[in-house]
Amino acid sequence: MKKVVVVTGAGISAESGLKTFRDSGGLWEGYNVYDVATPEAWKRDPDLVQHFYNERRKSVLEAEPNAAHYALVKLEEKFQVTIITQNIDDLHERAGSSRIIHLHGLITKSQSDRNPNLTYDILGSELKIGELCELGSQLRPHVVWFGEAVPMIENAAKECYEADIFIVIGTSLQVYPAAGLIDLVPAKAKKILVDPRAMEISAKNIEMIPENAAAAVPELVERLLNQ
Ligand code: APR
Repeated sequence: MKKVVVVTGAGISAESGLKTFRDSGGLWEGYNVYDVATPEAWKRDPDLVQHFYNERRKSVLEAEPNAAHYALVKLEEKFQVTIITQNIDDLHERAGSSRIIHLHGLITKSQSDRNPNLTYDILGSELKIGELCELGSQLRPHVVWFGEAVPMIENAAKECYEADIFIVIGTSLQVYPAAGLIDLVPAKAKKILVDPRAMEISAKNIEMIPENAAAAVPELVERLLNQ
């Protein structure tokens, strides 16, 4: 079975109603990254950090997967599909994708402040100060903050080395190491990028599809299934 590796970013969830980061009106317009998405922010003002992620978790729980998420599930009929997502929402899971790597964590889980390998499901949208892990330390969002290691990057890289088809959907490719995955893909692999701003993104020998994901990804999947 040919291997398809799909790297997704906030853009694939935009049509599910979840804000992207760097589009106008994006999340980083409303908040300073350094106030809510760094270990220093967590030490300085854990209440603000919890509030930021509680608000986002509420939006994620209210959102539904869109046609792009479901089309990637359909792709599994003919290919071994691995989704490498920068998104912390669970829309790929809820759509039914079977192989998902979360590079930046998953907002529906918490992790121990003392041992990041201790993770727990969050029931509902709120994670509160005072909720402790089994070691007795504060629970924080299971999210990779700026300046923290990206533990899943090696797994993601291994998938990219073996890709026959590499699809990038809805990411500005501005944040490393995720943005560097495209450089690990074999030269002979077919590369495709779906993003309304595709023509502004500089990348070599890649098919650009300058459209929104919910319209373009189902069409792309049909084409790949029938080729
Ligand atoms: N369909 C497809 N792509 C879209 C859509 C859509 N409907 N709407 C917007 N986009 C594209 C934008 O053109 C942009 O290129 O999605 C991309 C979103 O880029 P960012 O907001 O930078 O999001 P992302 O690339 O996922 O950010 C990467 O940065 O802040 C960190 O950890 C955070 O995981 C995030 C990482």
